[in-house]
Amino acid sequence: MERFDTVRGIRDYVSRERSRGQSVAFVPTMGALHDGHRACIEVAGEIGDAVVASIFVNPTQFGPGEDLSRYPRPLDEDLSMCENWGVDAVFVPEAGEIYPAPQTVWVEVENLSVPLCGRSRPGHFRGVATVVLKLFNIVRPDSAVFGQKDAQQALVIREMTRQLDLPVAITLSPTVRESDGVAMSSRNRYLSATERSLATGIYRSLQHGRETIERGETEPVRVAGDVRRRLEIEGIRDIEYVELLSAGDLSLPARAKGKVLIAVAVRVGTTRLIDNLCLDVREDGKVDEALLF
Ligand code: PAF
Repeated sequence: MERFDTVRGIRDYVSRERSRGQSVAFVPTMGALHDGHRACIEVAGEIGDAVVASIFVNPTQFGPGEDLSRYPRPLDEDLSMCENWGVDAVFVPEAGEIYPAPQTVWVEVENLSVPLCGRSRPGHFRGVATVVLKLFNIVRPDSAVFGQKDAQQALVIREMTRQLDLPVAITLSPTVRESDGVAMSSRNRYLSATERSLATGIYRSLQHGRETIERGETEPVRVAGDVRRRLEIEGIRDIEYVELLSAGDLSLPARAKGKVLIAVAVRVGTTRLIDNLCLDVREDGKVDEALLF
């Protein structure tokens, strides 16, 4: 695996690969890698000849008082994971390489950035969309892979790619869960043993939402209410949101039919955790777990 810390270095690498007729699949990350990233890297290996990953804790997507300064940065571990998982080149820029001057140009994806995490993290998706566009322009990949765990982020990036005519195919990788249902996340490292055990209630609550729909409830607010009550029963009382929205555009559907997203954000101790379930609710009432797109 080759490592590049500069824009010039990774650009030259990608140009070389392209001139050899290789396609490039890209997995942007903020490091603190886990099996969710591994799954994205495996998908990238299936769709591209050369796999490029980036490790960059992007300051512009953190708000004041958020966890930027304590975000885990186990770089040596991350690099050996990338190597073991088949990454061909890793881009590890310093903040000054990505933001050589104060950023005054931003990518704002309206509508999709408004609900869910957009409400509690103003400016977050602007930071994400801007850095991903910068990374796409630096790496110039043919395709890029994102995890469904960050469903709203994936929708925002797909829309940016579409509306700005970027020649990058966006692919999703399903959420990877621990055996007890907890979704893999770099922030799980913050959890104490008690909090980690409480966090298992998130997936059970999402599954409870699915069962509510399977029992015939199609009123979105009632389904979300059921999930919220279940979270409370599980001992998770600091609930930022529980919503059932259309999976395509994050609007509130009249009924829970077709592809819907049950999305939750909660705080366990001081750690903010998000999770979701994307469901395909058929007219005959059958419900399957689905990919967002
Ligand atoms: O999902 C992440 O790790 C980050 O939001 C991303 C896409 C790498 C942008 O900083």
